[in-house]
Amino acid sequence: MRFWDDRVVPVMVDKMLSTGPVHKERRAVCAGLSGRVLEVGFGSGLNITHYPAGVGEVAAVEPSDRGWEMSRGRRDSAPIPVARIGLDGQDIAADDHAFDHALITFSLCTIPDPARALREVRRLVRPGGTLAFLEHGLSPDARIARWQRRLDPIEKRVAGGCHLTRDVPSLLGDAGLDIATLETKYLPGPAVMRPWGYLYRGTATTPS
Ligand SMILES: C[S@@+](CC[C@H](N)C(=O)[O-])C[C@H]1O[C@@H](n2cnc3c(N)ncnc32)[C@H](O)[C@@H]1O
Repeated sequence: MRFWDDRVVPVMVDKMLSTGPVHKERRAVCAGLSGRVLEVGFGSGLNITHYPAGVGEVAAVEPSDRGWEMSRGRRDSAPIPVARIGLDGQDIAADDHAFDHALITFSLCTIPDPARALREVRRLVRPGGTLAFLEHGLSPDARIARWQRRLDPIEKRVAGGCHLTRDVPSLLGDAGLDIATLETKYLPGPAVMRPWGYLYRGTATTPS
């Protein structure tokens, strides 16, 4: 699976997560960012074009060299400097409260211990700062959730460790982050894609 995970999954993810409806969600989730931003699970840099003008710099955490390499063109043409500061969102070498805001998109599904990564976000974002999140996860519809549980073991194998069943609001709350805004929806598309398409988009604040 190493070749698959290292070489194929980043390309597949870049393709699947760069559709028009997904970019619309990316634009919305990035809208409130400013100052120093930590992006956990930077991938191929699909959020870059949506950083607002008030963002001064982006610190990226991304384990995949392939993903980072794929982001090069996007980084080079961005007006904002992007530096890769780490490889693992569960353990980031940066000072407490070093960032104004954090951004995570479609990565809590894949990070092995998302609770640990969110505790790092809480530590690293200044008091009163926000985490902007856009994630897919567990559907409230029992029939879809049943399919998500059935498909989860296959999804993990073919999609680089991705889970379909992560309960995003619970993960945020358990990490001590207060949900300030939350919108949920299915991505538009055929009903058969719903196990992959239940979205959580919003912001959570760090305690002040
Ligand atoms: C589905 S991709 C999403 C990429 C990007 N955030 C986006 O929205 O297009 C999941 C990302 O999480 C990254 N990832 C996996 N484990 C991680 C970890 N421990 N810390 C940070 N990122 C991780 C993967 O390398 C991959 O880039």
